[in-house]
Amino acid sequence: MSLRTIHKFPDPVLRKKAEKITAFDARLEDLATDMIETMYDAPGVGLAAPQIGESVQLIVVNAAQDEDSEESMILVNPEIVEKEGTQVDEEGCLSVLDLTAAVKRSQKITVSYQDIKGEKQELTVEDRFAVVLQHEIDHLHGVLFIDHLSTLKRALYKKKVKKMLVTQA
Ligand code: NI
Repeated sequence: MSLRTIHKFPDPVLRKKAEKITAFDARLEDLATDMIETMYDAPGVGLAAPQIGESVQLIVVNAAQDEDSEESMILVNPEIVEKEGTQVDEEGCLSVLDLTAAVKRSQKITVSYQDIKGEKQELTVEDRFAVVLQHEIDHLHGVLFIDHLSTLKRALYKKKVKKMLVTQA
């Protein structure tokens, strides 16, 4: 088990479409374990494999009802198969520094996925947990929450990051 480095915007790995996972082996279990450890250390409520530089369809989330508890869930090759309603909630991302913003998402979703053993599963969730899953599944398609913002807000953020990078150099 080891803590992994979280890649930050504008790292290109965050923009790649992640590969489907076909091997349900010890290597996958190790990767998921590292991701869970890295997520709680950050701390965050969800993490997608591309965020640690692995472009594969794997996400981990904290499914606990209250923020102080830990109830890890691993979803392999997750896909949203049903969605209904809308909600607007504040989002941030471990890969997008210094920004939170209101994002419009589906209120309730059904996700089909495989567990760590490769067994097919289905899950219906709503409200905040549905937001977290939509956010993490977006990562597997190279989409970040800033892509859901207005062009102006996104441009302002990109400008800010450019400035930060120049200052660091
Ligand atoms: Ni994120």
